[in-house]
Amino acid sequence: ATQRTLVLVKPDGVRRGLVGEVLRRIEAKGYALVALDLRTADEALLAEHYAEHAGKPFVRPLIDFMRSGPVVAAVIEGHRVIEGWRSLAGATDPTSAAPGTIRGDLARDWGQKVIENIVHGSDGEDAAAREIALWFPGL
Ligand code: CMP
Repeated sequence: ATQRTLVLVKPDGVRRGLVGEVLRRIEAKGYALVALDLRTADEALLAEHYAEHAGKPFVRPLIDFMRSGPVVAAVIEGHRVIEGWRSLAGATDPTSAAPGTIRGDLARDWGQKVIENIVHGSDGEDAAAREIALWFPGL
């Protein structure tokens, strides 16, 4: 079925000038942009966004990293886009992410407490609905 998913270009991706490259790959794949916004996320939004990671050791560094500069938030649409976007993004750990993916081609491990991996994608249908409502209320 046609789905929507939340895309974030994280602060590392924005700082490194990779917004165009990420959007290019989404458009080249054929997914449709439904919403697009540059913003700096606040603590409350990020605590909610990462609620499933609450209590994990990397959640504080993760939230601090995600607040460290603007992110590009987008909603994209297409048949099976949740799985398709995760496939374009590649594995969470950029060291093992396959070449050809955004993380495999453009990210690496710098030894920080938090994995900086350029983009975020919703995990599944429930997460996508929750995250889209959080980042784009009223969409
Ligand atoms: P993402 O999958 O978009 O959402 C959770 C984020 O937490 C993940 O990307 C990484 O940026 C970060 N992350 C996940 N697991 C770890 C880990 N073991 N150590 C550090 N950061 C992590």
